[in-house]
Amino acid sequence: MHRMYTVFPALTVLGGLAHAAWYEKGSGILEELGPKLSKDARILLKDHEAFTDASSRWQWWAAPEVSAVVDVYNEDDVSQTILYANKHDIPFIIKGAGEGHGATLGLAKAKNAIQIYTKNLDQFDISPSGTTARIGGGIKAKKLIEYLSAQKKQTVTGACECVALAGVALGGGHGFLQGYYGLLSDQFVSLRIVLANGTAVTASETEHPDLFWAMQGAGHNFGVVVEFEYKIYDVDYENKKEVWSYEVFTYPATKDYTRKVYTAAKKSMKTQPKGMLQYGLVLTPPALGSEPVILHHILWHGPLTEKSKYTQSFHDLEPLNVQNAEGTLLDAPRWMQIDAEGVVCNANKYVPGAGIPRFPVDLKEYNVEAVVDSVDRFSEVMKTVPELSGSFFMIEQYSVQGLALKKSEDSAVPFRDDTLLLAPAFFYSSLVDGKPNTTIDELAFKYGKEIKQILVDGAGGKTHAYVNYAYGHESLEEIYGEPWRLEKLRKLKSIYDPENRFRFYAPIVVSKEKGHDEL
Ligand SMILES: Cc1cc2nc3c(=O)[nH]c(=O)nc-3n(C[C@H](O)[C@H](O)[C@H](O)COP(=O)(O)OP(=O)(O)OC[C@H]3O[C@@H](n4cnc5c(N)ncnc54)[C@H](O)[C@@H]3O)c2cc1C
Ligand SMILES: *[C@@H]1O[C@H](CO)[C@@H](O)[C@H](O)[C@H]1NC(C)=O
Ligand SMILES: *[C@@H]1O[C@H](CO)[C@@H](O)[C@H](O)[C@H]1NC(C)=O
Repeated sequence: MHRMYTVFPALTVLGGLAHAAWYEKGSGILEELGPKLSKDARILLKDHEAFTDASSRWQWWAAPEVSAVVDVYNEDDVSQTILYANKHDIPFIIKGAGEGHGATLGLAKAKNAIQIYTKNLDQFDISPSGTTARIGGGIKAKKLIEYLSAQKKQTVTGACECVALAGVALGGGHGFLQGYYGLLSDQFVSLRIVLANGTAVTASETEHPDLFWAMQGAGHNFGVVVEFEYKIYDVDYENKKEVWSYEVFTYPATKDYTRKVYTAAKKSMKTQPKGMLQYGLVLTPPALGSEPVILHHILWHGPLTEKSKYTQSFHDLEPLNVQNAEGTLLDAPRWMQIDAEGVVCNANKYVPGAGIPRFPVDLKEYNVEAVVDSVDRFSEVMKTVPELSGSFFMIEQYSVQGLALKKSEDSAVPFRDDTLLLAPAFFYSSLVDGKPNTTIDELAFKYGKEIKQILVDGAGGKTHAYVNYAYGHESLEEIYGEPWRLEKLRKLKSIYDPENRFRFYAPIVVSKEKGHDEL
């Protein structure tokens, strides 16, 4: 026994040294991996002029530490990179054409990692039937939407233009059209995936159906998607059915208003049509002084003349301000300030080194008093803790009719009938001289957990957390669902990724590496 204790630390030290050396310039990645990649692929080390942009993040809280970026162009580039990383025991992460929107504590455990950068896997090709498209695994939502609309087609993508398709879709994924067609992952017909051992496989209802099941909701844990075969739909331009409208109402975020607004929202849930999203934001716009407000957005499929049908009860509450517009679905991101040029997509440019952890609570039904209390506490924090004054609380009320098209047991997505995604999010400057300021992270955690708890208590003690909003301390059941589902995922994990190479983003098998765990 005594021998084992002396042998193992020695091995660890050696492993640590080898590991520390790989990313030093000339350490061998260029020489060893370089010749195996396709002609356009590039390996960017830290001294490369393109490295900073390639490895940038939407936000820097719990960001991974990347030491090399491999700019891949095809499936084999991904395989070769994974084989290289495996051989040298180097961790890897994946970033698509977005800004690296993934944000969860686990990512901070990726140290000196290789970033598999998939942004050039952006092909788009409609099938002869016109009902599916082959879509590159690194494509950005905005680019996909533009490709589709040029062909008078549409599909379910993330609502925000700046996210990529993959990270969103592999966690289920919510978007404007989900009321019609279901979640993003419901659109998968087949996937081309590079597994943890570098082998590429196709997963569909008929090939590796168990893996296909897992990719729909827990996909970040199982492989790199290099191509999606994805369902697409016609837009009925001739019948002018492309018309969408919105109204945004501004109210003071007082208890009284919050109660009235979310009583009205709750009431409207039963009749919310398929093409609608209600999206509330509690924040403190500098232009309006230091008093927090609620911006309640209502987006619907139809002309603005239908507003009395959908938004009258919000007019009746005497908002401070109302704005509206009519256009197409392509305008919707801009209306909600989640377009590629808008403030949400460019958070890190407004506040360099921004940290933006979210504390999600997903629900089937509003407990209005819990919303009132949590919004009130959140507003108080914005007013009294200067570092957190720029924070925002999201209240998303999606249409869910399309989600019933798929049975709960037919994919890994656990909580199909959660209509409401509530998420207080703290927005602050989290880096000091390029290093995380954990003091301010701790503040955000303290308040985030407290405000989340108000909502959890209001829901009788048990809630869910959308995997793509989760911050990292949620239980596996909260994210991935019932025991049978978790059991199945663990079993599949032991088959497809026995070494737990995909372990940094909402991991099913949590590794003991050090990260931001002290929080
Ligand atoms: C500004 C903003 C807007 C958002 N809007 C929406 C929205 O409208 N709807 C919604 O549902 N969610 C939304 N989210 C949450 C979003 O789902 C997550 O942030 C998600 O991680 C983003 O995925 P990404 O591919 O853009 O980011 P990335 O950081 O590139 O990817 C996130 C993770 O996904 C995995 N991954 C990425 N690409 C691949 C691949 N090809 N194969 C396998 N794994 C991969 C990796 O584990 C990676 O760490 C939004 C988030 C932000 C910050
Ligand atoms: C970190 O944040 C805290 C809280 O805002 C602040 O008091 C402290 O000065 C910051 N640390 C540094 C090194 O700036
Ligand atoms: C990689 O793993 C898959 C899934 O377990 C397996 O089918 C395949 O044979 C493995 N490839 C190699 C080269 O071992």
